[in-house]
Amino acid sequence: MKLGIANDHAGVDLKFELIDYLEGLGHEIVNFGTDEKESTDYAIWGEKLANAVANGEVERGIAICGTGNGIGLTCNKVNGIRACVCSDAYTARYSRLHNDCNIIAFGARVIGPDTAKMLCDEFLTAEFEGGRHARRVAMIMDVEKRNHKE
Ligand code: RB5
Repeated sequence: MKLGIANDHAGVDLKFELIDYLEGLGHEIVNFGTDEKESTDYAIWGEKLANAVANGEVERGIAICGTGNGIGLTCNKVNGIRACVCSDAYTARYSRLHNDCNIIAFGARVIGPDTAKMLCDEFLTAEFEGGRHARRVAMIMDVEKRNHKE
């Protein structure tokens, strides 16, 4: 799968560990930065990733900051994005099965690399179940449309 990954300074080490892991599994990874550990603003990197997912340049995304919250919130401001912050396998799996999430966000100060790899496995292998969940996801997207501000 063609994946995008983006992070702030807190996520640099975890990002490179995940790139190695995911490339080893055969995925193609587009790195949207940052590769620097100097303090930066997660919104810069989250927006780049979210735009790439929204316009189809990459199929799904992985977003990393200290908690996962700042970059995940940023991604969710881009039309078409459903990003979830995950630190457990159940939530990561159901973010796909029931919510059709297209970005997973991690807190590099919350979870370790082995957990992040496990969460990627769940997020990248579980498929959206559709059915009643398709109706609910459509309702989320209707909220986005009704409340879109120019
Ligand atoms: C940076 O110190 C930290 O605030 C950021 O990585 C993230 O956790 C914010 O949500």
